[in-house]
Amino acid sequence: MIPDRVIARKRDGARLEPDEVRDFFLGYHRGEVEEYQMSAFLMAVLFRGLELTELEALLDVMLHSGATLDLGHLPGPRADKHSTGGVGDKVSIALAPLAAELGMFVPMMSGRALGHTGGTLDKLEAIPGFRTDLDLTAFAEVVERVGYGMIGQTEEIAPIDRRTYALRSVTGTVPCIPLIAASILSKKLAEGLDVLLLDVKVGDGAFLTDRAMSDALAATMVDLANVHGVRTVALQTAMDRPLGVAVGNGLETDEAIATLRGGGPSDLRELVVRQAAEMAALALGSDALPLGADAPRDELDAAVAAWIPRAAEALDSGAAFERFLRSVEAQGGQPGACESDGPLAPAEVVREVTAEASGLVSSVDPRALGAAVVELGGGRSRLGDAIDHSVGFEVRVGPGDRIEVGDVIGRVHVPSEDAALRAETVLRGAISVGGEASPLPLVIGRVQPSGR
Ligand code: URA
Repeated sequence: MIPDRVIARKRDGARLEPDEVRDFFLGYHRGEVEEYQMSAFLMAVLFRGLELTELEALLDVMLHSGATLDLGHLPGPRADKHSTGGVGDKVSIALAPLAAELGMFVPMMSGRALGHTGGTLDKLEAIPGFRTDLDLTAFAEVVERVGYGMIGQTEEIAPIDRRTYALRSVTGTVPCIPLIAASILSKKLAEGLDVLLLDVKVGDGAFLTDRAMSDALAATMVDLANVHGVRTVALQTAMDRPLGVAVGNGLETDEAIATLRGGGPSDLRELVVRQAAEMAALALGSDALPLGADAPRDELDAAVAAWIPRAAEALDSGAAFERFLRSVEAQGGQPGACESDGPLAPAEVVREVTAEASGLVSSVDPRALGAAVVELGGGRSRLGDAIDHSVGFEVRVGPGDRIEVGDVIGRVHVPSEDAALRAETVLRGAISVGGEASPLPLVIGRVQPSGR
């Protein structure tokens, strides 16, 4: 393999042989392909794209550059969910124990907040003592014992992805569908899954705001993961407004816990239940035959519909919450802190914010709220920054609500009076009053493998 020849072939739009892709990336891993050569190659891919055979080879080499979990001995299907990230998206914290309660094993490896979107690991660390840095052996043991576990990507997982992602973030090559798809799936498939549900966010608060790119990402990841033998579908869900009421780490974990106890905001509960039902339909099938991701759409719809009341019941009965408490204990956290009604991370200053105008709420800007959480110390601008888990917003109104002057539209949770003033201004600015409201449906649709 001669690196500059491979780069030139991709630059000129050729379809590379799987071996060429594999050798180029392995060469990079071994230090035989230089950083500048990989940068040029990634830029060529950004402009020329990758066909499915090239993408399969890329995913394969990234996945097998590191450790993979082998949970084949577990007496049930292994399933997980990945969200492309949004504001107020605390679904995973409630979904993982719920899916385990329905009969799946969920080895969930999650990420941290970066940019305006939050990260599940930061939310979980609002629970006193909770450890997200278990090694793979301890993690596998927790998944086997409790039915699910939640940790961060360890050093051993997909090292080629870790290096290329760092390079992409400084060479303008992040927004590239095939590279994003291979990067995300190399980490998720390392979990040794039977089933994967993708939650691809759509709207201004999403990682990719362009609708065509979001559609392409969903379709690419679904096809690629299925080719790799993991039954996968994507739900495209609304991120034109925050999900639920809470935005900010501690508040979001409180809200996920409320949902696990049968309460929580209705949109959050609906999405948690729907996602659990989608996973169960793919992993466990319906009462008739086990289903695959390529089942006809109406059969999959029927299987999902059959699981929805069972998922709702596991929340209402407290069974999913009990399982969550067991996982908190297994990962070093204090279950008692999750059983009390108080906030996990109380803020110094909590201030109510009231409306200064009457009318119809036309939109709530998720990106402004997510960015403000970062600015107020509740997120990070650089990897490794410490996080204040107490910072956040409660957003009590959504698109389509009618409000009057003086109505409470939310609360700010901040470390000081100064910060409260700034946060109030952000919250008022994020809520637009007047005009029409045309929010996206919470679940926009399901993407199945090509042709379904
Ligand atoms: N998240 C990832 O893990 N990889 C990407 O390329 C983009 C988002």
